Amino acid sequence: MNGAGKNEAGLNGAGMDGAGLTDEEIGHLLEKLDLGQKVRLLTGASNWRTYAEPAIGLRALTFSDGPAGVRGDAWDERDTSLVLPSPTALAAAWDDELAAELGGLLATEARRKGVDVLLAPTLNLHRSPLGGRHFECFSEDPLLTGRTGAALIGGVQSGGVAATAKHFVANDAETDRLTVDVRVDEQTLREVYLAPFEAAVEAGVRVVMSAYNQVNGVTMAAAPLLERPLKSEWGFDGPVVSDWGAVRSLLDTARAAQDLAMPGPGGPWADGLRAAVEQGLVPMERIDDKVRRLLRLADRVGALGDPPRVRRPTDPPTAAPGAPPRALLRRAVAAGTVLLRNDGELLPLDPARLRSVAVIGAHAAAVRIQGGGSAEVFPASLVSPLDGIRAALAGTAEVTYSPGLPPSALPRPLDPVRTDGPPTRDPVSGEPGVLVRLLDADGAELHAEHRLSGRIVEPARVAGAETVEIRALIRPRQEGEWTLAVGGWGPLSLAVAGRTLLSGTFPLDSDDPTRVHVAPPYRSVRTALAAGEEVEVVARRGLAPGTGVATILAAAPPPGDAATALASAVAAARDADAAVVVVGTTEESESEGRDRDTLGLPDGQDALIRAVVRANPRTVVILNTGGPVALPWRAEVPALLLAWFPGQEAGDGLADVLFGRAEPGGRLPTTWAAAEEDVPVLRIRPERGRLHYAEGPFIGYRAWLRSGTSPAYWFGHGLGYTGWSYGAMEAPSEVIAGRPFDVRIRLRNTGPRRGREVVQLYAAGTSLTGEPPVRRLVGYAAVVADPGEEVVAVVRVDGRATERWSVERHRWETVPGELLLRGGRSAGDLPLSAVITVSGPPGRSPGAATESALR
Ligand code: BGC
Repeated sequence: MNGAGKNEAGLNGAGMDGAGLTDEEIGHLLEKLDLGQKVRLLTGASNWRTYAEPAIGLRALTFSDGPAGVRGDAWDERDTSLVLPSPTALAAAWDDELAAELGGLLATEARRKGVDVLLAPTLNLHRSPLGGRHFECFSEDPLLTGRTGAALIGGVQSGGVAATAKHFVANDAETDRLTVDVRVDEQTLREVYLAPFEAAVEAGVRVVMSAYNQVNGVTMAAAPLLERPLKSEWGFDGPVVSDWGAVRSLLDTARAAQDLAMPGPGGPWADGLRAAVEQGLVPMERIDDKVRRLLRLADRVGALGDPPRVRRPTDPPTAAPGAPPRALLRRAVAAGTVLLRNDGELLPLDPARLRSVAVIGAHAAAVRIQGGGSAEVFPASLVSPLDGIRAALAGTAEVTYSPGLPPSALPRPLDPVRTDGPPTRDPVSGEPGVLVRLLDADGAELHAEHRLSGRIVEPARVAGAETVEIRALIRPRQEGEWTLAVGGWGPLSLAVAGRTLLSGTFPLDSDDPTRVHVAPPYRSVRTALAAGEEVEVVARRGLAPGTGVATILAAAPPPGDAATALASAVAAARDADAAVVVVGTTEESESEGRDRDTLGLPDGQDALIRAVVRANPRTVVILNTGGPVALPWRAEVPALLLAWFPGQEAGDGLADVLFGRAEPGGRLPTTWAAAEEDVPVLRIRPERGRLHYAEGPFIGYRAWLRSGTSPAYWFGHGLGYTGWSYGAMEAPSEVIAGRPFDVRIRLRNTGPRRGREVVQLYAAGTSLTGEPPVRRLVGYAAVVADPGEEVVAVVRVDGRATERWSVERHRWETVPGELLLRGGRSAGDLPLSAVITVSGPPGRSPGAATESALR
């Protein structure tokens, strides 16, 4: 075996190219292990690591979330990460190159943090806009999802880090996510929900994560789908890792093509797998296959060798102002921002003509840069829209700020960096932040450390610790009834200025890992505090086995007066040359672990928008949300930008768009409704444990097209800053079923500035058997042109466009007949069309091998 040398060479890319061990060599390693050693490898050693096996030169593998940044193997606010725009924003760029570049950045971050396997991308679909992890998935369309995912995977893996396609499959909502039984027909599964995973495997993804949910009655960690299509049909040769805690039983999961149970230590496999094999209940070959796949992965990331390569932070620091990664993140903000509406070409604003700008909305100062849940990371710095606008107009225009709404009554973890919280310091060191202590059963201190946040997801592990305590001095800005809260499970208490105001035991009521370990509920009290007077607050939680360890100390200021807040925003807007209102969702309304109840913007923000627009007709509204919200005021608002969760460089990227330094490059990856009641597929509450995908393949724009109603903004819509006129579409008159072909679309930039346009091609069968009557996206290509310039977009259409999944024969089949192609700017704006004949014998498709040879 000479894996070490090969792996060394592979650090910057080649390591992921399969230059490692042969199957035979892996077989030799396997022979060196006894059953106990093999079984041990198949359950995690800790939350984020696997076991090492020195006998074969295997070191532990480190896994880490997540899609918008790499947290590393500790959940600790002192260990910061670059925060990328959320996946929905990335998909909105419709830009494979950008996705690959950002994938490369994730790989750099992963290497810096010693991470071998990144738990991203999330390839589930936007089936309903209420889905809690909408922000973390790319799109409602399988092709856009698959292409963006494949490009990101390529970027991550060419940086020497394994990517993970998750959550396999049909994990498109959060309600009862651990148990829900998704009922979906075979054709829909293949053509819609499995399609992005197939694209990921084709892109060479190294790891696939099985989902928590069931599909058609079988939990995914034991599902036959892991075997076929994933492994036997698509040829996936890496390990299937479980979602965290998804292996909840022994025999069914062990016999299935589930390979690695995370996290650990302990769990059904750790407890019983060895005995099950010895009793002949699980075949030895199954175990060997699982271990073989794990070793293959280890080899690919350089964790196998003599000695194995240890990951070290060899890359230059990434978080410094002006560092190339930050410039890339800033560019990505503009690339994913969608200009939904621009009446009278209000945007871009010309800084030379502005003397004053009123910035309004809580999200302008406390922007949401990322979604909540396992994807969360800690930024070293962040630029709010207010900061970005101030920097862009420094010395040229006056910028005022008003929140427009009273402060939220919902407690937020203490955090010295938050502009909307009270100043907070550690009572011992006096430094901004809090003091965290671990106490024994008698209340004696075992350990104390300074932390930067009142949200302690992973306190230090100290033997004998029975209590976590968070202690802080806060200095209220406002006088009145404050809400103070302690988050956690089990025995909780809260004391203010030496007085215990809350004490009780709160039993665990959930087995969802996010609710147990990441975002436990708050128990709150209200108490009068004086402005400017520092007061000590102490939160404690008892540590009981199985209830998690996360502990939170949070606060909310006294409720303010809504009318006063609104009046001051309106006055500021009236006095300014232009107003920018930033609105969005909150951590409570949009996060992993639960679905949304409503599409409505929380906290009276709709009324704020209307009032500001009435006060100043030159108002730009920026939406800071991960998924769609209702837009009841959209016809009244002249300019509407959708910024998603834009990552840490939010403010500078948005200022680039507002003032025309960059074009808003985004196109909607998901259809946006005007009102909740119009949405064709909305409700995602399981009934009697089951969630029926009764609409079949008709989700997103396909559902809107079938329903015959129009949304507010179609999938694919986005204006940019220039105009385009579409010319001719050239398509071959005849194509061979199952093979790729090209369509050329001519268009001209008719506007005043250089721009980028995403040319989209949709297809619908005119006579194809079984073809859905509505169109679906079959290809897209971006072009860039100067004013007046004519360009040709060459759109490659994959062979799949002329294939259907046959439920009778359980295979892809080519379908000769006529296909109507339509080209243009969105699913609802397609000026060009052509009918092509698909020829060739009906029946079995030429298969992946023939298809890729033709590419
Ligand atoms: C999430 C996964 C995540 C894992 C580890 C789970 O609850 O569903 O997406 O990778 O936790 O944090």
